[in-house]
Amino acid sequence: MAKKDTAGGRGINTQLAHSGNDPHEFHGWVNPPVVHGSTVLFPDAATMKATQVRSADAHSRSRVQRYTYGTYGTPTTDALCEAVNALEGSAGTILVPSGLAAVTVPLLAFLSAGDHVLIVDTVYFPTRRFADTMLTRLGVEVEYYAPEIGEAVSALFRDNTKVLFMETPGSNTFEMQDVPAMTAAARARGIVTMIDNTWATPLFFKPLDHGVDISIHAATKYPGGHSDVIMGMVSAGEATWPQLYNTQVALGTCGNSDDAFLVLRGLRTMGIRLERHQKTTLAIARWLETLWQDGDTIVGPVLHPALESFPGHDIWKRDFCGASGIFSFVLKDATEAQAHAFMDALELFGLGYSWGGYESLVTHVYLKDRTVSARDYGGQIMRLQIGLEDEDDLRADIARALEAARAAG
Ligand SMILES: Cc1ncc(COP(=O)(O)O)c(C=O)c1O
Repeated sequence: MAKKDTAGGRGINTQLAHSGNDPHEFHGWVNPPVVHGSTVLFPDAATMKATQVRSADAHSRSRVQRYTYGTYGTPTTDALCEAVNALEGSAGTILVPSGLAAVTVPLLAFLSAGDHVLIVDTVYFPTRRFADTMLTRLGVEVEYYAPEIGEAVSALFRDNTKVLFMETPGSNTFEMQDVPAMTAAARARGIVTMIDNTWATPLFFKPLDHGVDISIHAATKYPGGHSDVIMGMVSAGEATWPQLYNTQVALGTCGNSDDAFLVLRGLRTMGIRLERHQKTTLAIARWLETLWQDGDTIVGPVLHPALESFPGHDIWKRDFCGASGIFSFVLKDATEAQAHAFMDALELFGLGYSWGGYESLVTHVYLKDRTVSARDYGGQIMRLQIGLEDEDDLRADIARALEAARAAG
């Protein structure tokens, strides 16, 4: 999609404000129209024939008419894809109906029966469920590796290894991965690398700049930002884009215009929201870390990569340029009843999954699915999503809940 480049080379918030649609394509309206549609009309039979997709290679279809059918994209979905390509530095982006589909579609695109895939053990649980059920059923060998493995991952490469899947920081416990070392090792063997980059967003970590082939995002989180949309985005470099795109077309897993509109609207403010999430989250994480280091009776280690006390901190500092708003901490030596007392005493934090929205949330972390990286954290792990509320109010809410947890002991 050709567009007037109004943001290129400027600061990130300028880019977020101006990339994507060109207002002058739609009578000057600053936001793109939400185009609902299946059918697109052609001016004549020759044009219709020239746009027909008859081969498996949909990517090579003739471009004589920009839009041909709803599943191939609309002006609204294109506007979001263009904005994301500018952020990721990617050749192309597909939109899919959920963050989970943003994981499953690329895995299906690059794996076949008889292939071997390496997946980090600290992966988002539904990714593991997809691998252990669907991929295994399709004849793919699934193997998990420890997040700290670094370039030693090459010892796990087999002749049939086709994909190396990363997620950093890891879900719920936030272990960092040495992405540049791992992608270099994979590239030397022709293995496609993918990363679930939802935590960092392309503002704090740009996977393609670090050698990754495929960048995956649950747009549901920070891009949407308001807990009112579910959408996934997958961005690819030149080499992997045709196969990703062809798979999207073959599966028909297209994102819709309403959700694309909401995510594009969210992107406009994502920079300033992330600044705020980062600041409040770090302040609360440092406060909990101080309680832990001062020997608090119930607060244990804080799992946040931007804290110097966190084991993966050096990698975070080297590769990332910011931290978002979700982390965990350990309720030291606590029982499940104490964890529940903590959660039930919270007034501002809702008990809910997901993250990246404006409101604070808490979940009780379950880690029994882990295999190669299973370990005892010495208590109950509480995951906090820090929203846009005022820091003092959130801190007071947590302090009250900690008191309730102590009292339940
Ligand atoms: C790391 C990560 N990836 C992907 C997803 C899936 O996103 P969605 O809820 O849009 O399917 C989530 C959701 O929590 C997540 O935490």
